[in-house]
Amino acid sequence: MDLKIAVLPGDGIGVEVVAAGMKVLDAAVKKSGHKVHAQYADVGWAAIDKHGSALPQATREICRANDAILFGAVGLPDRDVTLPQAQRPERVALLELRKGLFANLRHVVLPRGLASRCPLKPELISAGIDIMIIRELTGGLYYGQPQGIQGAAPNRAAVDTMAYSEAEVRRIIRVGFETARKRRKKLTSVDKANILATSQLWRETAVAMGKEYPDIKLDHMYVDNASMQLLRRPSDFDVIVTENTFGDILSDEASMLAGSIGLVPSACLGEKDARSGGPVPFYEPIHGSAPDIAGQNKANPVGTILTVAMMLTYTFGLLHEAEAITNATFGVLNEGKVLTGDLGGSASCSAVADAVISRL
Ligand SMILES: NC(=O)c1ccc[n+]([C@@H]2O[C@H](COP(=O)([O-])OP(=O)(O)OC[C@H]3O[C@@H](n4cnc5c(N)ncnc54)[C@H](O)[C@@H]3O)[C@@H](O)[C@H]2O)c1
Repeated sequence: MDLKIAVLPGDGIGVEVVAAGMKVLDAAVKKSGHKVHAQYADVGWAAIDKHGSALPQATREICRANDAILFGAVGLPDRDVTLPQAQRPERVALLELRKGLFANLRHVVLPRGLASRCPLKPELISAGIDIMIIRELTGGLYYGQPQGIQGAAPNRAAVDTMAYSEAEVRRIIRVGFETARKRRKKLTSVDKANILATSQLWRETAVAMGKEYPDIKLDHMYVDNASMQLLRRPSDFDVIVTENTFGDILSDEASMLAGSIGLVPSACLGEKDARSGGPVPFYEPIHGSAPDIAGQNKANPVGTILTVAMMLTYTFGLLHEAEAITNATFGVLNEGKVLTGDLGGSASCSAVADAVISRL
């Protein structure tokens, strides 16, 4: 198979972690005769400096011409502040490249060998942590109209609108059920159905769809309770599905459970894949450009390496290769000899990638 990928390293450590991820990807697929066709493109400040735009036309075209996008990170805080919010690289690039990709998957796993890095007490995590969070990404409070500030100070008023159609709810909950079916068959649907109309629609839809998935144990949780239970009994969660704003907050909270922000991969998926006319799926580690450690070969590449494994799973269906990368990566983490600084080690970003490759 030819794996056609648009590669957008971006700013700061994006460059280093994407190089590590691509090296592991190449090594993993070569073994089974597949070939990576990578087209590199500029994004973020790297693109503003060369082309005057955080997302140049050439980059958009390269993204459209490929089957998946691997993205590093964009933004440099010192330079971001020189631009209005709406023109900052993160806003410009992410909003555009994620258009139509309604399902945001974040996979939070605490490696067995790194339990001491988790901020929770050992007795709370003895059964391990492996949670897939599925956040709705194209609806809800961030996009609902009307939105804005009206009037003059000191008597201004502001409004945001949380809106969801039944079809939008159904398609994301389906991703939840289908994902749970491939894992431990447990789905927690998170809402605020005691207060919000959108959440009442959400819950009714989830309950009705549950009948199509008798093999999945479905439960419902209010978002305030879910934020507490994630810290109280994280091992009980398998798949969580929730709307945009709740998912934004819960997924950041859950990311902390993995022990480092540098360990968590993510995927943004649409209804159809790019080859069938859908938007191009977008894959990125959840961290930013980390300017404090950029350019020093110190960044943890694991989030990007696991992101590449998600790409092999969801876009290319190369499950065997994805599993090989995941197993090799957790082998390195659990052994604890080749770890970057965020995990208490002193290995370089490239040394971690090499250690993963040597285990493939
Ligand atoms: N998707 C994106 O492109 C994205 C996401 C978040 C932040 N950002 C941008 O990145 C810039 C920096 O943001 P920030 O400092 O708030 O968040 P950040 O994630 O870049 O860094 C937060 C902290 O975590 C550490 N860290 C992050 N990733 C790491 C890794 N792989 N290995 C080791 N340590 C790691 C950093 O050194 C820093 O101390 C900003 O311009 C922000 O807008 C971009």
